[in-house]
Amino acid sequence: MSENQINPSSPASEITVADPVRPQINQDVGQGRGVYISTYGCQMNVNDTERMYSLLEMANFSVVKEPEEATLIIINACSIREKPVHKVYSEVGRYRKLKEKNPMLKIGVGGCVGQQEKDKLIKNQPMIDFVFGTDNIDALPNLVAQTFESSDKVINAKFEHRAPYHVETLVRNPGVSTFVNITKGCDNFCTFCIVPFTRGREKSRPLSHVLMDVRSLVKRGVKEVTLLGQNVNSYESEDGADFADLLKKVAMETDIQRIRYTTSHPKDFNEKLMHVMAEHQDKVCEYVHLPAQSGNSRILRQMNRGYTREEYLDKIALMKKYIPNLVLSTDIIVGFPGETEEEFQDTVSLVKEVGFETMFAFMYSPRPFTKAASFPDHVAEEVKNRRLNELFDSHEKQAFDLAKKYDGQVLNVLVEQINEQGKAQGRSTQNKLVYFLGSESLIGKTVPVKINFASPNVLRGELVQ
Ligand code: SAH
Ligand code: SF4
Ligand code: F3S
Repeated sequence: MSENQINPSSPASEITVADPVRPQINQDVGQGRGVYISTYGCQMNVNDTERMYSLLEMANFSVVKEPEEATLIIINACSIREKPVHKVYSEVGRYRKLKEKNPMLKIGVGGCVGQQEKDKLIKNQPMIDFVFGTDNIDALPNLVAQTFESSDKVINAKFEHRAPYHVETLVRNPGVSTFVNITKGCDNFCTFCIVPFTRGREKSRPLSHVLMDVRSLVKRGVKEVTLLGQNVNSYESEDGADFADLLKKVAMETDIQRIRYTTSHPKDFNEKLMHVMAEHQDKVCEYVHLPAQSGNSRILRQMNRGYTREEYLDKIALMKKYIPNLVLSTDIIVGFPGETEEEFQDTVSLVKEVGFETMFAFMYSPRPFTKAASFPDHVAEEVKNRRLNELFDSHEKQAFDLAKKYDGQVLNVLVEQINEQGKAQGRSTQNKLVYFLGSESLIGKTVPVKINFASPNVLRGELVQ
């Protein structure tokens, strides 16, 4: 069977899907000049930066490690909260001297900030030469060519609403573990979140394209893929396959050794997916990031999350039935508009009740275009700050207790690299970072490591010979 055909057992197999599109590139825009990209934000942005570097290398730019060596600097920025947006302006400010020294130097801003701010960026900071949006990455080499040809400012931040999501994963040196986008955009419109405005409407890649990518990454030595999307559970291929179908096929029809995925939305995480995870535990890691955001049902309704506290807890209980050694992490927002002290305590108690091994918690930050920004009763900064610290304190104690269970256990670690201290570094299936004494020949191998030091974020151990 060719890689492009859908297996006859898949839903609606009569649908044929076009090949992924590779962007047309003018091959000598770069003329060997250096490009430096600084990246903020989520895995989506990290993966987009990799795509930008790949495209710019095809256009004959050479990737450099320091902005001082570059003739092209791109800031791939995140706008999920207000602070990261300020970082863009301060970073551009730091490049003033470089621009004075090298008048050829061009500075561009992309990512979610590029999409959100568009021409405002150039009005506020004249040192910026070009701005591009999240849907315009493939046009980057042409955009850059325009900026090098004239001193006019260039802005390209239009959503490609009609274009299907038929891209090919572009990774320069994929290493042991790599990301594969399966969806882009988000249609959930949680009232606090800017992502639907910066990433546009949700689109899924055809299942056959994802399989094709994973197979070709395996050929390049990749052992682990992380399937990426803002809400992977609402994945829907053109042939009708859902996320559980996709996960099953990646597990069964490719030689990838490990599969992870992120991010899951609690309202869409269904029993079919739990079943597939349980059935394919040899490949699908027993780790799920399931952002709760709050432990109070009124706040969850105000957030437009589509589940109550009880529904969230019931789902967790069901997941643990299917996958008894499941490891969970979450995202929490404290100080959402109108959140009372009691409502915040519901979040503290939910976090305790679930026993998340890792928690990412944030103070609510009002974002442009979002509904919650105009809600009444915004919580004072000092109250948000106090709640955040209280939540972290409460979680930290529990996280240390939860980590103790790893002490003395033998975990299967996929070795990714030898770090600067000469230690082998890898991840266990539970997504724990593990360090141990080991040689370079172990990179890419999965080896048993006996843990003798366990903390919430890092485990240390010894190779079991
Ligand atoms: N798609 C993911 C979230 C992506 S954004 C999901 O639905 O869970 C990553 C995290 O940033 C969110 O889970 C949320 O906890 C946080 N976040 C998003 N908007 C925020 C805001 N306005 N203020 C504070 N934190 C926010
Ligand atoms: Fe934002 Fe909600 Fe979409 Fe996540 S699901 S990206 S929080 S709108
Ligand atoms: Fe930030 Fe955009 Fe990701 S706002 S979190 S980079 S989707």
